[in-house]
Amino acid sequence: MRIGIIGAGRIGSSLARHFAGIGHEVVLANSRGPETLQALVTGIGGPVRAGTVEEAAAFGQVVVVSVPYGRHRELPAETLRGKVVIDTCNYYPERDGHDAELDGDSTTSSEKIQAFTGADVVKAFNAIYWEYLRDRGRPRGDPGRLAIPVSGADEEAKAVVAGLIRDIGFDPVDAGRLGEGGRKHQPGTTVYGAELSAAETEALLHAA
Ligand SMILES: NC(=O)c1ccc[n+]([C@@H]2O[C@H](COP(=O)([O-])OP(=O)(O)OC[C@H]3O[C@@H](n4cnc5c(N)ncnc54)[C@H](OP(=O)(O)O)[C@@H]3O)[C@@H](O)[C@H]2O)c1
Repeated sequence: MRIGIIGAGRIGSSLARHFAGIGHEVVLANSRGPETLQALVTGIGGPVRAGTVEEAAAFGQVVVVSVPYGRHRELPAETLRGKVVIDTCNYYPERDGHDAELDGDSTTSSEKIQAFTGADVVKAFNAIYWEYLRDRGRPRGDPGRLAIPVSGADEEAKAVVAGLIRDIGFDPVDAGRLGEGGRKHQPGTTVYGAELSAAETEALLHAA
């Protein structure tokens, strides 16, 4: 699969390494330009290259958005429209600036990214601590596999993302639709940042 990744920090670079490691073609972008990512992509090796944000968005059949939430309005919405977009972003007002709608919980960060881009947004990888994402992938059936909650409106898009999660060594757990489901794995929830199996995650999401 062709995967674009916008945001090459802790989460974006960990995903680039995982996806390239299982043979997906990856274009990785940050805000400062591809020349600043050469050492990183060389270190990852395999089918990953650095590109501009526009290139990553255009290249991906699936595009990961992994930037500070407050920067999402810089995304190339025209290019992302209609694509499967994996949103790893979390809203931290002290970093991102206050958003009255999010502070009032009338909507969620992922729904705002969906509205801004017109993409089929799937919220995933937002609740896992980046070092667990980098280091804790395990083969199928391994009892130590960690769960990754996933939410989104489009079932097909969610299935694509769930497949990617399984393939890189984690267990996807469906949290429901983007708003209602996403609220169950945002910062402050019981599953957020926790080291949980799929069964433990399902129980906590169900109780939420
Ligand atoms: N750290 C975690 O454990 C963790 C876990 C789950 C989810 N998250 C969430 O996932 C997102 C990424 O987190 P992170 O820890 O990976 O962040 P990070 O290490 O600070 O990296 C952020 C990346 O976003 C890039 N970026 C910023 N604005 C951009 C723009 N307009 N266009 C393209 N790239 C842009 C930065 O590029 P430059 O350096 O060139 O500006 C950098 O590569 C955040 O929303 C975070 O809350 C984090």
